[in-house]
Amino acid sequence: MSYDLSKLPHLDNYVDAYIDTKAIEIHDTTSNLAYFDNSKKIETGDLTFLIGESMSYEPLKLPYAYDALEPYIDAKTMEIHYTKHYQGYLDNLKKIEGVDLTLPIEELLIKDTRTAVQNQGGGFYNHTLFWQMMKPKGGGMPKGALLKAIENEFGTFEEFKEKFSKAALAQFGSGWAWLVKNKVDKKISILQMPNQNAPRIDINIPILGLDVWEHAYYLKYQNRRAEYIKEFWNVVNWEFCEAQYSRQ
Ligand SMILES: [Fe+2]
Repeated sequence: MSYDLSKLPHLDNYVDAYIDTKAIEIHDTTSNLAYFDNSKKIETGDLTFLIGESMSYEPLKLPYAYDALEPYIDAKTMEIHYTKHYQGYLDNLKKIEGVDLTLPIEELLIKDTRTAVQNQGGGFYNHTLFWQMMKPKGGGMPKGALLKAIENEFGTFEEFKEKFSKAALAQFGSGWAWLVKNKVDKKISILQMPNQNAPRIDINIPILGLDVWEHAYYLKYQNRRAEYIKEFWNVVNWEFCEAQYSRQ
């Protein structure tokens, strides 16, 4: 089945959706990427579309080839990151005694505060988002409501980039930098999170995340985390971030 999504907010680039009982595949016409999502409802007429992050306990199908983010993220790093680290978090999550995988991952991470669940479940959750927060020929700037929110909070987009980059650079050891939206006051802010701790998803909606574990950059950049962060801006998928920002 194919639907015209051109009238949907935040989805200017997404014109075809293919729906089956388990997943929705949305095609981004500017990048020719496909997304598989099941977390957010957008209703239009008698159709309901779901966008957001894949939250079944299966690895998200990588919406581009391992080498698609070259030269900024090298193919070998992408392959190992996806097939070993990401798959590893999911496999290890499933092995945790008593883990309730009938819960959606966001609910599981909020309810089950055991360290193993936070580590493995957080790793699975964070990376599922991260893959979608990047795309070939990405970069540039966000548009619309997200850009306005960034300018309100940080002054300019460039100032935001600088602050986010500094947060990523300053994260001691392994962890992430995040741009998040508070679910209550709707304000956006930058967070540093250690290890694989999800970005306080009891109170926040993640908009943009940057993995600064060494496994994300060491093969190409060795210890030069700052360089990796600088190049990351060339692959940001702002359309996905805009869709995340629109979540309530
Ligand atoms: Fe990672």
